[in-house]
Amino acid sequence: MKDFILYSGSSNVPLAEEVAHLLHISLGKVDLTRFADGELRPWIQDDIRDKTVIVLESFSYPMDEHIMEMVLMGDAIRRCAPKSVIAVIPYFGYARQDKLHRIGEPISARVIAKFLEISVFHEMICVDLHNDAIVGFFQVPVSHVSALPILAAEIKKMNLKNGIIISPDVGGVKRARNLAYLLDMPMLVMEKRRFLDKHDTSETYQIIGDVSGKTAIIVDDIISTGGTTVQGARSLKEAGATSVIAMTTHGVLAGNAIENLTQAPIEEVIVTNSINIPKEKRFSKLRVVSIAPIIADAISTLVR
Ligand code: R5P
Repeated sequence: MKDFILYSGSSNVPLAEEVAHLLHISLGKVDLTRFADGELRPWIQDDIRDKTVIVLESFSYPMDEHIMEMVLMGDAIRRCAPKSVIAVIPYFGYARQDKLHRIGEPISARVIAKFLEISVFHEMICVDLHNDAIVGFFQVPVSHVSALPILAAEIKKMNLKNGIIISPDVGGVKRARNLAYLLDMPMLVMEKRRFLDKHDTSETYQIIGDVSGKTAIIVDDIISTGGTTVQGARSLKEAGATSVIAMTTHGVLAGNAIENLTQAPIEEVIVTNSINIPKEKRFSKLRVVSIAPIIADAISTLVR
């Protein structure tokens, strides 16, 4: 392997440490201090000349701070004459604003991709982007890796007899199909309607298929408020599903998500650690599985 070093932003240090452990390296030293007014002042403290430098940062809440941290760290690194710089973004916040949903709004995912260009990252590693097409917003190669095999392994351990994979909306069909393929299970799609004038509000209004007597496994890329998952679970139970399991790559868990998911007819909520979930947010139904192995693999491929 080439000489490389991994830095972590402040968003997900436990994941970065786990990745570093799997790669048999220690994390690079960076001082992320702030001035009294909140202005960030990153300071790289290693000799990184001619090294391949990797920076890991999830664009989770507060995403604007984390994005800025990534861009400023990238600039600090670039000025130390490294050989190349790789950005690892386990969760790409703003990904849901991937198109012009209505006139007068930005295409925010593209704006963030352009913003990252300031720091001249040579390559990117992203995990389960909300929309595959976001890869095209970047000017540099993107390794777009999937956490589905890791999530599938959790379901396999359950030895379910009568499982069915559910896409909670039409946009998630490909993801659900891929998971169904990995698990050799059938799949079906639910139809969801979003209200553009009401933030974070959706309504499930049709299940296309039969779930009676089955264990329904809802798979999504993001659980944010939990609205999609909770509504989906209720509809599935009403349609005769014996139990519901929810799984997602990115456990955003915003607003009342924990309360909503706790009260919903859902047995278990399985998420990955693409976003750091502190102890106080780990409710009893929640299981967190690690994507460190897939990130370590993706890094190994690039630094080989
Ligand atoms: C939307 O298209 C996404 O794939 C998720 O379904 C959505 O972001 C989940 O959000 P919430 O948990 O707030 O319903």
